[in-house]
Amino acid sequence: MKALVTGGAGFIGSHLVDHLVTEGIEVVVVDNLSMGKLTNIKHRNQVKIHIEDVQNQQFMQQLLQTERFDYIYFLAAVASVADSIERPAETHLTNHTAVLSMLEYIRQSKLPLKQFLFTSSAAVYGNLPELPKRENSQVDPLSPYAIDKYATERYVLAYGKLYDLPTVCVRFFNVYGPRQNPSSPYSGVLSILTDCLSQERPFTLYGDGLQTRDFIYISDVIQAIWLITTNQVQQQVFNVANGRELSLMTIIKAYEKIAGRQLKVRSTVSRTGEVKRSVANINKLIKLGYSTQWSLEAGLCQYWKGVQHAGS
Ligand code: NAD
Ligand code: UD1
Repeated sequence: MKALVTGGAGFIGSHLVDHLVTEGIEVVVVDNLSMGKLTNIKHRNQVKIHIEDVQNQQFMQQLLQTERFDYIYFLAAVASVADSIERPAETHLTNHTAVLSMLEYIRQSKLPLKQFLFTSSAAVYGNLPELPKRENSQVDPLSPYAIDKYATERYVLAYGKLYDLPTVCVRFFNVYGPRQNPSSPYSGVLSILTDCLSQERPFTLYGDGLQTRDFIYISDVIQAIWLITTNQVQQQVFNVANGRELSLMTIIKAYEKIAGRQLKVRSTVSRTGEVKRSVANINKLIKLGYSTQWSLEAGLCQYWKGVQHAGS
């Protein structure tokens, strides 16, 4: 079995690569290292890594033709909502066009595939009042990032139905854990919080801290993806989340307790295009055999322990 992981040097992608290698799958990674790092990939010597842009159609098509993948996991993306608001046209090329081009090539070349998994986002739900979000809840994508994710999902599912391709979409809620890159102001909030707590740097809080998110630890995300692959699910969408709604302020307080440190917080106005409340109904994933292994407290403890260990 052979798998392609685009964005495989990034946070979620590198954990997925680790898992696939331990399952005995041959793995090929394509990543332009805009956010990812080669050192994220634990089994580097067992993985073929191409430092390339997924927008390079000629390269991607040749790769698909020569490697003949069983599984394709499309994770490469500019993962920040705020960054997509700064650079809408540029991020569209990676977050939408590159995926569509790949699907089109697969269709035209009739490449045999066991699964094409696209990583979408909870951002597609926007700010509509229904909570928790079910996979068939109404969507209202508010940012270029969310619009690209939703549009791409629709293509991924339509290509599945129209051309009989084994496609599936996952809507990750807020994922956290080791290897999430905190280096950009647009990085995931828990990587920034971890960095601020460990380096004793001030944290910029956008808004009142009452915005809520549904945080899921990285190992649970990998459990979910692997269940979707092994169950050979096709032409469906799955929420991937913990199912627990917590405010950013509650998370900060819990993390301060775990770290035994007080965060220096600077407050400023909230970001535009932001989702105010987010929480998932994960019954569909549970029916597939998923069960949450990491509570927020356990996940944060593990994350913090890793950071302390690396620093010592
Ligand atoms: P990440 O930034 O760590 O990973 C994305 C990877 O893609 C990086 O390694 C980056 O270098 C690479 N990349 C970006 N543009 C590329 C391009 N044009 N060509 C090749 N490689 C490129 O982010 P992540 O958190 O691991 O996110 C993985 C996927 O999951 C993304 O599609 C993201 O939108 C989605 N997602 C993430 C979260 C989350 O909370 N982290 C939530 C919902 C959805
Ligand atoms: C995150 C993911 C996105 C994913 C979505 C799914 C990243 C960078 N973003 O977006 O890929 O699709 O979850 O729900 O991984 N905040 C601060 N200070 C900071 C940084 C953030 O207060 O320094 C606040 C934000 O304003 C926001 C909350 O923390 O209210 C979460 O922000 P962020 O981690 O960027 O996540 P989302 O925008 O939810």
